[in-house]
Amino acid sequence: MLSIAVSKGRILKDTLPLLAAAGIEPIEDPHTSRKLIFETRAGTAKLIVIRASDVPTFVEHGAADVGIAGKDILMEHGGDAVYEPLDLGIARCRLMVAGRPGCLDVGQRRLRVATKYVETTRRFFAAQGRQVELIKLYGSMELAPLVGLADAIVDLVDTGNTLRANGLEPMDPVAEISSRLIVNKTAMKMKHAEVQQLIDVLARATDGA
Ligand code: ATP
Ligand code: PRP
Ligand code: MG
Repeated sequence: MLSIAVSKGRILKDTLPLLAAAGIEPIEDPHTSRKLIFETRAGTAKLIVIRASDVPTFVEHGAADVGIAGKDILMEHGGDAVYEPLDLGIARCRLMVAGRPGCLDVGQRRLRVATKYVETTRRFFAAQGRQVELIKLYGSMELAPLVGLADAIVDLVDTGNTLRANGLEPMDPVAEISSRLIVNKTAMKMKHAEVQQLIDVLARATDGA
């Protein structure tokens, strides 16, 4: 029996068809149920539905054998505590620096950057030799430059609609993002056959998508 950690929303929506290809189908609909653990029809796996940023933590500690998480979350979580054997190619977007035109020019003072991704942002600007002031937010980053909380933001961009709607422009790309299958290191050894079979089936389902 494998336990699989996923987050509600776009990752769950894009993951369910891939899992169905692997014969893993929740008995109840995780989009509508208030349950947090979902049994599956064949009984070979169970789904654990948690917040996107918590997926690496559950898998690292073995509270789930495998998980599906965005590269943005994995970069921010940091370290190499889990294996990352497969790019599922779903929930694609870019992590970007964005702001009002000219916002990166702040003269001698430090650039103020609002983001949910403080570690990734610190590393990105440090690699350019630039020390920035970080303002940690948990959502709606696009608001920060509009109300004087920050000069710029680092956030996910897909269509660019959210930036445009708020008068902001994409500037520098930080990373290309898609969701990855991650695996607990002990589960990779102790449940090797099951985990490898899941990787193989998901790899085929992803190619076919
Ligand atoms: P919450 O803060 O409510 O826990 P979230 O914003 O982290 O939720 P989602 O919006 O479902 O959760 O995002 C989950 C993952 O999907 C992100 O970590 C990222 O990899 C990807 N993603 C987020 N926004 C987009 C987008 N607009 N287009 C494509 N992929 C996205
Ligand atoms: C995500 C992200 C951006 C937006 C980018 O927000 O945080 O705000 O999508 O997509 P776009 O370029 O296509 O507009 P999401 O829709 O997940 O909203 P939430 O996380 O704030 O609930
Ligand atoms: Mg979101």
